[in-house]
Amino acid sequence: MLPHSFTMIATIVIIVVQTFVVVSSAPEADKISTLPGQPQVTFQQYSGYITVDESQQRALFYYFVEAEQDPASKPLVLWLNGGPGCSSVGVGAFGEQGPFQPGDYNVLLKNDYSWNKGVYKQVFNEVGRYIDAYDVTLDVCLSSANQQAYVLNQLQETEKIDVCVGDKIITYLNRKDVQEALHAELVGVSKWSTCSTVLRYDYQNLEIPTISILGSLVKYGIRVLVYSGDQDSVIPLIGSRSLVSDLAKEIGLNTTVAYRAWFEGEQVAGWTQVYGDILSYATIRGASHEAPFTQPQRSLVLFEAFLEGKPLPNIE
Ligand SMILES: *[C@@H]1O[C@H](CO)[C@@H](O)[C@H](O)[C@H]1NC(C)=O
Repeated sequence: MLPHSFTMIATIVIIVVQTFVVVSSAPEADKISTLPGQPQVTFQQYSGYITVDESQQRALFYYFVEAEQDPASKPLVLWLNGGPGCSSVGVGAFGEQGPFQPGDYNVLLKNDYSWNKGVYKQVFNEVGRYIDAYDVTLDVCLSSANQQAYVLNQLQETEKIDVCVGDKIITYLNRKDVQEALHAELVGVSKWSTCSTVLRYDYQNLEIPTISILGSLVKYGIRVLVYSGDQDSVIPLIGSRSLVSDLAKEIGLNTTVAYRAWFEGEQVAGWTQVYGDILSYATIRGASHEAPFTQPQRSLVLFEAFLEGKPLPNIE
């Protein structure tokens, strides 16, 4: 299980999908030769820092995983976790939808439902229906002025009594050899933690609604999907559902797919509604706050359908 502190992480994740991005310029120095304990894989991984403000010495840490098949033709996906201040690498990549998850005995286990591989072929026996997205997991934690960057942050005092102090992700990402393999540095902090305390958010900002950003994206013609685990006790789906329907009303989108169940195999995988063929809402049945962790298979089906611009599967 993920540590208790994970439950504070907002489930709303922005996935930016951009097709035809040229990534041939991925820096060789950022290439990961191998992560300690990882199984053998055929795709490449990169990680390092992207400078965003030279004068302030601010940088973003990123972890980039190529698609398993034909990466050059695949869309680029940017994953950002919420929190505030929670690590997209630690939570998203190693806890939710990345290719590996730390297991016992210092090994990384392959995630069968990783978003950089297409499993439709295996699950539904549909040959040729790969999705294989690039999965970029970018840590949004900006460093303060005197810190280059910090994907690796201070272990909070509260976490040290936390029942899940032995959490595998925290343990794994605090290993020196793992940090070296990831080209990650501890700058001004002694430990990495899942959620940063050094960001010093103005907590009043948490009250500012951001739903209008989704409205702007829709107005630009960008497809938007808002999803909720229906077992999410942190951000219950009742809230996300009314947010989306209110937004649709506000920007004048009519329902184009009436509220209905969607399926993964013969199981109801959740419910969905589509507005104006551009704004979609979906629940994932049996998923909690971090949907890809608790319902990896359903989450992948949802993600693939969204990337392909296809309706969510109905019963056959
Ligand atoms: C939405 O439905 C209403 C009522 O049927 C109709 O008047 C309006 O033109 C529709 N809007 C769009 C954008 O299709």
